[in-house]
Amino acid sequence: MSAAPQQEKTFYLETFGCQMNAHDSEKVVGTLVSQGYRQVPTVEEAGLVLYNTCSIRDKAEQKVFHRLADYKKFEKQGKRFGVLGCVAQQEGQKIFEKAPYVSLVAGSASYRNLPQMLIQIEAGNRRVTGLDDRETDECFETEFTARTNPHRGYITIIEGCDKFCSYCVVPFTRGKERSRTSNSVLAEARQMADLGYTEIQLLGQNVNSYKDSAGKSSDRKTFAELLAAVGEIPGIRRVRFTTSHPRDFGKDIIDAIDSVPALCDHVHLPVQSGSTRVLDAMQRLYSREQYLERISWMKAAQREISITSDVIVGFPGETEDDFQKTLSLLDEVEYDAVFAFKYSPRPNTPSIKMDDAIPDEEKSRRLAALLEKQREIQKRRNRKHLGQTVEVMVEGKNEARGQWMGRTSQNKTLNFVAREGRSFESGSYVPVRVTTAFPNSLVGEMVEDAVPAYAVSTGEAR
Ligand code: SAH
Ligand code: SF4
Ligand code: F3S
Repeated sequence: MSAAPQQEKTFYLETFGCQMNAHDSEKVVGTLVSQGYRQVPTVEEAGLVLYNTCSIRDKAEQKVFHRLADYKKFEKQGKRFGVLGCVAQQEGQKIFEKAPYVSLVAGSASYRNLPQMLIQIEAGNRRVTGLDDRETDECFETEFTARTNPHRGYITIIEGCDKFCSYCVVPFTRGKERSRTSNSVLAEARQMADLGYTEIQLLGQNVNSYKDSAGKSSDRKTFAELLAAVGEIPGIRRVRFTTSHPRDFGKDIIDAIDSVPALCDHVHLPVQSGSTRVLDAMQRLYSREQYLERISWMKAAQREISITSDVIVGFPGETEDDFQKTLSLLDEVEYDAVFAFKYSPRPNTPSIKMDDAIPDEEKSRRLAALLEKQREIQKRRNRKHLGQTVEVMVEGKNEARGQWMGRTSQNKTLNFVAREGRSFESGSYVPVRVTTAFPNSLVGEMVEDAVPAYAVSTGEAR
């Protein structure tokens, strides 16, 4: 008698949080697929339901528990639930008490052990954990990574964070800083170039504290040298990096951008506050003046560099005067985009115990005032692109508007029209003249036979 056919193993995965989590999910998908699982687009179709979670603000954390509550009804159908990522690492075994139908809780450093964890789940174990591996050195690499975009890909160069800003959960959810060797990063980047990737984004919570431990000390690269080396790989046309911490941000990064055309003219340098007093309370390790010095390096670069930032409003004890200093900093820097957040008290962090909490309505008022100011700044900034010809990487088409969607090296959205009948593959590079500027995007038209405003590096030429 033949054995009963084995039921197909399927999984659904939803990802919250930052790019590091998005990239981790690519590793999780790769690992599950290598174990014979198939990814499905809905919870209903899946045998295993996974949430890769974020804990950076309270709302992000609550989202996962809402999701779990929404789908609890499926438990009776034999579905298994798993919580991965930063909430998993932060809450650990407590998740089993909060949501007893969860059978897997695993932090990011344990993903290469997923195959063993899956075997345990398949065997019916209802409390499988992967929480103990935060101190390892190799946790960036799982054997398989299923990248979702065939042209642009992430590479983790440094994991964890040792900065311990007083409001932040990341040092607790992602552990100590561990850098990957430059040889390993470059090997992965070359492999991606061979597969047809043209854009690479180097990832880390603080890429500027990258410390290469490769082979001989003479072979070790600083972050700026690594960045330049990735930008010089034939076939790679765009290199981005995120996130930078101002304290460790060196001028050598700007020098690298100046000398390697493939390094994108965009730097994300989160400031958090324009008041040195608040920066001290946040333990950010730099003053307003030191931050502005780094901005002045960027403004002196050969290409115009687009500058973006993160800001927290309503940190405990932030006075109106402190807040005004943040607004004046926005005017001074003239950012191309700002991600602003209301301060959210987080478990384990020192700032949760600080006095002088700012009421939520006041945080909302400050957030709205800041966004309003920034909108005006972006209008002004984006108008400067009018008439310029820039190169975009095509991301797709908005059929309703008849516009192609693209992204510039400065990381701005530039939608464009082209001669009728012309069609572009995603991932192709097209010169576009900017004709309209909105605060959050640009519109333009394709220029036939144009020379873009900045050098197009073809890779083959180098
Ligand atoms: N490593 C990066 C940022 C990581 S988190 C850095 O140091 O810049 C992304 C952003 O979330 C932070 O820059 C900060 O602006 C915001 N953030 C972090 N913790 C927060 C909290 N407790 N409340 C509100 N915003 C927070
Ligand atoms: Fe969090 Fe600060 Fe580390 Fe960024 S540098 S991840 S804000 S502790
Ligand atoms: Fe969130 Fe974890 Fe990233 S807390 S922002 S997913 S490092």
